[in-house]
Amino acid sequence: MYRHSLEGLAPGEVLAKTIYDDGGRPLLTAGTRLNAAYIRALRKRGLMSVYIRDGLADDVVPNDLVSEQVRATITGHVATTFTSIAMVAEERGSGPGGVPGMVDRLGEQPLELDTRGQKAIAELYSDIEYLISEVLESDSAAGLESLKTHSSYTFEHSVDVAVVGVLLGRRLQMPYDRLRELALGCLMHDIGKTYIDHTILDKAGKLTPDEFAVIQQHPYLGFELLRRMPFKSLLPAHVAYQHHEKQSGGGYPRGLVGDNQIGSRTMHERVGAGRMLLIAEIGAVADVYSALASDRPYRRAMPSDQIAATLSQMAGKHLNKEIVGWLRRLVPSYPVGTWVEIQFGSRWAGYRGVVTSVPFTSVDEPCIRLVLDARGEQMTDPVELDTRDVPDLTLMSLTDEDLPPHLRGRDARAGRASRAR
Ligand SMILES: [Fe+2]
Ligand SMILES: [Fe+2]
Repeated sequence: MYRHSLEGLAPGEVLAKTIYDDGGRPLLTAGTRLNAAYIRALRKRGLMSVYIRDGLADDVVPNDLVSEQVRATITGHVATTFTSIAMVAEERGSGPGGVPGMVDRLGEQPLELDTRGQKAIAELYSDIEYLISEVLESDSAAGLESLKTHSSYTFEHSVDVAVVGVLLGRRLQMPYDRLRELALGCLMHDIGKTYIDHTILDKAGKLTPDEFAVIQQHPYLGFELLRRMPFKSLLPAHVAYQHHEKQSGGGYPRGLVGDNQIGSRTMHERVGAGRMLLIAEIGAVADVYSALASDRPYRRAMPSDQIAATLSQMAGKHLNKEIVGWLRRLVPSYPVGTWVEIQFGSRWAGYRGVVTSVPFTSVDEPCIRLVLDARGEQMTDPVELDTRDVPDLTLMSLTDEDLPPHLRGRDARAGRASRAR
């Protein structure tokens, strides 16, 4: 099984994982042979890549921390909630003066949602209970890398941030009530983006200073919208407000500073002037992780080993380094289902295979089924290698473009050339 981008996917490939719609209903089940019409329909839905069977390691299926189906359902509820909040805000706040003008016109009255919106929020509350219990019951984050490849990015991304946030909150032993507030804050953190033009949000090149100034308004607007919602606490609104702040004080919108020390903050925390809240520091780490791990219209998701390296570089000045440390212990560099190549060390150098399991106690030392030898030939007897038994081994993640053509049904060199462009 491997992940193939929809661009360049030829009819005839067999789907390895079921794809769900926003209501959690199966759209195409695992085992479906994709024809041109299916591929067109998937593209139209905004999907950017799918898992395809390769005939070599199809029994290795990533075990999702939260199932695709549950994710799809929550994503649908987040989308409805965003739309409903946006509608009421639009009714009350539209007019001149940009975001500050709108916030002025919102007034101090709570925002009252229509019946559909109220229903979606009630469903979100029960989704949160479900999500927390799934995360609390799981003993491994080996499935955290689950496919995030939809271009309706904001909603899927919100769910990812909530899953990662709760996983971190649980490791930091946050009380249950606080986990709920964290989950809600993560689900809603980017709600201020509903007012930002999509051409700016999805822009491939560098943003102009004016465009960046527009983007920078979303945490403030998000806070102003959420604090007018009938939530039990203001903390979710603060997650939205603070998720782009940095430990060093270089973030936006207020240039708050972070603490890097967790200590007893999981239990007692006072809102300190000029300081980030722990709940928002967790949200910030989960937000960056999700952004790096997702396909975007202008770039593919970063492989997990590069995400780990990037997060480590950001720890300290940008992200809370203790929280990043926890995430590094939870998120494998080579998740189950990833194709890897052994680079140096041992007689297996140059061999390629698929990660079959990740030990909970040592997430960076996976078990691998080696299926291609150093010349790229398919091995008649695949080798099951536990990398804990092989000291000084270096691994590298592979993308579908690195796999031999017979595994992915198209010319490898053509793939490489298009990637280099
Ligand atoms: Fe954001
Ligand atoms: Fe975000």
